[in-house]
Amino acid sequence: PLVSTGSIVAEARGSGRGVCAFNVITLEHAEAILAGAGAPVILQISENAVRFHDGRLRPLAAGVAALAEDSPVAASLHLDHVTDADLLRRAPDCGFSSAMFDASALPYDENVKATREAADWAHARGLWLEAELGEVGGKDGAHAPGVRTDPAEAAAFVAETGVDALAVAVGSSHAMTSRTASLDLSLITALRDALPVPLVLHGSSGVPDEALAAAVAAGMTKINIGTALNIAFTGAVRETLAGSASLVDPRKYLAPARAAMAGVVRHLVETVSQRP
Ligand code: G3H
Ligand code: ZN
Repeated sequence: PLVSTGSIVAEARGSGRGVCAFNVITLEHAEAILAGAGAPVILQISENAVRFHDGRLRPLAAGVAALAEDSPVAASLHLDHVTDADLLRRAPDCGFSSAMFDASALPYDENVKATREAADWAHARGLWLEAELGEVGGKDGAHAPGVRTDPAEAAAFVAETGVDALAVAVGSSHAMTSRTASLDLSLITALRDALPVPLVLHGSSGVPDEALAAAVAAGMTKINIGTALNIAFTGAVRETLAGSASLVDPRKYLAPARAAMAGVVRHLVETVSQRP
């Protein structure tokens, strides 16, 4: 069934588990995620993915929502990495129960102001809002790695903006194709102790299994994963195409790609949703 992100995150946090939030680019992603998950899961569409669909949000969101409704797995729709307030305004009408408003590239005061406006607008429409403080980095190569979120500043940020969850910079980086990131687990615990809201880990594809489980045990709740799915998907496409120069039916390479993605989803959900 289609449920709300707020309820999935609250339930995971209450039982000390993590919950995976997977990035969806095409319907095959959503099919693979729902086939592999076996536990509640968040389906997120990023502003970049909307751009890929020529700015159209509704068609993909409607398809993903319909797949979630028909699935035995509880799943929610989340709009990810929104920098454009106009896109945020379209979320409630397109089936989203939550969004991440990303003003993390702005100076602190401007991040607070933009995020508070976004949170007020979202809450008036029943939308759960995530924001980011301290740049996770890696995205578009724009952010310097090594930046960390300060717990005291994060506590002030949450109090000033009223957001429902906070993405924090604790050592991960977006779009890593090797799982070599090392997380600052004591910082995660310090942030957990300092903040009244759940913590979100971005760039989780680059984090090894053991560190993902340790991050959840240390206090991380929402685990955002995109690149790891695309590695599995594209690897299977490449392998299938390399095996046959005469293959033209997309189903012949999309089916193994979707199956490979579902396998990665199954493994990551098991890793993240273990009770500590
Ligand atoms: O918001 C999305 C995530 O942070 C995904 O990052 O593609 O590096 O796993 P990733
Ligand atoms: Zn992210």
